[in-house]
Amino acid sequence: MKVAVIGQGYVGLTISVFASEHFSVVGFDSNKVVVDQINQGISHIEGISNSRLARRLKSGNFRATFDGRDLKGSDVIVIAVPTPLTPERIPDLSFLESACRTIGDNVIEPVLVINESTSFPGTLRNYIKPTIEKYSGKQIQHLFAISPERVDPGRTDFNQKNTPRLYSGLTSEASSRTREFYSRFCDNLVEVSSPEVAEAAKLFENTFRQVNIALVNEFAQIAHALGISVYETLDAANTKPYGFMKFTPSAGVGGHCIPVDPIYLASVAEKHGAPATFIRRANEVNLEMPEYIVRRIASDNGGNLQGKNVLVVGVAYKPNVADVRETAAELVIEHLRSQGAVVSWHDEVVGNWKGESSAPLSGADIAVVVTKHDSVDEKKILASASYVFDTTGKIKGSKGL
Ligand SMILES: NC(=O)c1ccc[n+]([C@@H]2O[C@H](COP(=O)([O-])OP(=O)(O)OC[C@H]3O[C@@H](n4cnc5c(N)ncnc54)[C@H](O)[C@@H]3O)[C@@H](O)[C@H]2O)c1
Repeated sequence: MKVAVIGQGYVGLTISVFASEHFSVVGFDSNKVVVDQINQGISHIEGISNSRLARRLKSGNFRATFDGRDLKGSDVIVIAVPTPLTPERIPDLSFLESACRTIGDNVIEPVLVINESTSFPGTLRNYIKPTIEKYSGKQIQHLFAISPERVDPGRTDFNQKNTPRLYSGLTSEASSRTREFYSRFCDNLVEVSSPEVAEAAKLFENTFRQVNIALVNEFAQIAHALGISVYETLDAANTKPYGFMKFTPSAGVGGHCIPVDPIYLASVAEKHGAPATFIRRANEVNLEMPEYIVRRIASDNGGNLQGKNVLVVGVAYKPNVADVRETAAELVIEHLRSQGAVVSWHDEVVGNWKGESSAPLSGADIAVVVTKHDSVDEKKILASASYVFDTTGKIKGSKGL
């Protein structure tokens, strides 16, 4: 079986490496730098080591390409391109459109097209299929299926092999071919009755997290106002053996999934006249956390941050990854600067971001911990400033939520 994977980022490179243990895989990406790096054995994502990538390249079963013509002759094409928001914060399907165009322009024999990119229910049936057909310019009987990706970059206990995978085809043949493909490298396949159910399940999983994080972030503010510890209260609630799931407060949510997917769900809901008030409000509560945190820091520091040297520790959206997409650190920095603070940041995992480089972990008036990577020494954080505010709840001896 010949497989092509469109998009060689977190999802696409991971799936390419796993699939190339069983099939011949071509990884297509529109970014030449990414393609060249991969072909040199340099992985740009956590979870795929350089040595593992080098082994796959050496086996002859995997290579990356910048040339859409290399999709020709594939039996299966997996789409794993970004599905972000536009600047107006509505779903942006332009990357999906361009992936569909690459297929339409280059693939002349019927293939199984599987979408792994996250999008709203109806995307496979009403957008991907007609868009590929439009660009093909002639009738080719492709098969279409969805299998939303659930990978959590940086996580070691759950991966492609042991994370249950949802799937559904537009036809029963598409479903069975999809099962055949994934069953080679995934232990647990769960077929659902329609692509729309699979698409909706993926969005709901991340909406569940967004809403619960918003709830605990709101509760952190209530606990502070009441003069009780949010962490002790959560631990106390968590002694209940059923009906409770512990989430912890933070500066907000980040990454390509949790801040974005609920908006895909809200958008499609509103288009169909259904309410998404709760989902919208959860997003707002999380986006308001950076301002709340900066207010708390200002209030602890004489109500004024003008001219204060503030070091933001950890700008990645979560620990141990270099991913800064939608990171809450961006809003924290923005609010600190709007208060007149002189802000730098420390994050050696990220290194460079928005034209700035990671600053030394020392010499600040105030340190604000947004993300705590395992490699960063807690004692060094505490010594980096005379006042340390920790939004992660991990650093004993600091101020916090
Ligand atoms: N990152 C995650 O943890 C995660 C988890 C589950 C699902 N997803 C979903 O998977 C999809 C991909 O996310 P990602 O994190 O892998 O994105 P990414 O930004 O890491 O990688 C996307 C890659 O696609 C390439 N690309 C963009 N347009 C292209 C095109 N038209 N043709 C070929 N290549 C193209 C980019 O150059 C980039 O290398 C998104 O829909 C996302 O929501 C992501």
